[in-house]
Amino acid sequence: MATRNETRDRSRSTGKKTNGSAKDRSAFSFGEIETGAMPLLGALAAGAAIGIGANWARKFLQQTSESMMAGNEWDSILALEHKATLAKFDLLLATDDDDIGKRTALVKTLHYALNKHAHQEEQVVYPALRQANETVDADHLEHEHGYVKTYLYRIENMEKDSAEFLPTVREFRQLIEEHARMEEEQVYPRFKQSLTEEQNAKITSLMNKEGMKMN
Ligand SMILES: [Fe+2]
Ligand SMILES: [Fe+2]
Repeated sequence: MATRNETRDRSRSTGKKTNGSAKDRSAFSFGEIETGAMPLLGALAAGAAIGIGANWARKFLQQTSESMMAGNEWDSILALEHKATLAKFDLLLATDDDDIGKRTALVKTLHYALNKHAHQEEQVVYPALRQANETVDADHLEHEHGYVKTYLYRIENMEKDSAEFLPTVREFRQLIEEHARMEEEQVYPRFKQSLTEEQNAKITSLMNKEGMKMN
């Protein structure tokens, strides 16, 4: 934890690191705009027309419904996922030592949710942050994802009726809550504000595509 905090303090003291206008940042291919705002029915019809299978349609529907609930904005989608993940932790923390089956099932859903979320951030949002010279924040957040995997590994491989189970889940939840707070309150609002509407739409579109791969 000390390492994370030290890194975080360094990140905070660095302050705003962006240089130049968002329009100058071309390397993330913001020019070719694909907003991801394609109407649901139109996309499904198009998919059916070219023979795309039911599995694709299921993935598309799952990702699209989540995106629509969050107003098709990348940061709102991620915030919604943070909230849903913390709710899963709360369900896990409400279990007893003899709820072994329930704990096993909840750990599995947590694994899926965290994996999908991290994939979207690591494949799109953090690279976009680095592209915009927000490297310290991106590196710090990705470093914390390493601890997320470590906690997942621990609770997956721990006896589910162990006395250590709930204290470990509690520590894990705290890490997720702090990490999500840094993203939602510090890094993402500043980054989003530095981008044009088109650049933000591009990030949303790319993120939805990555999310679909994990559904
Ligand atoms: Fe993250
Ligand atoms: Fe996140």
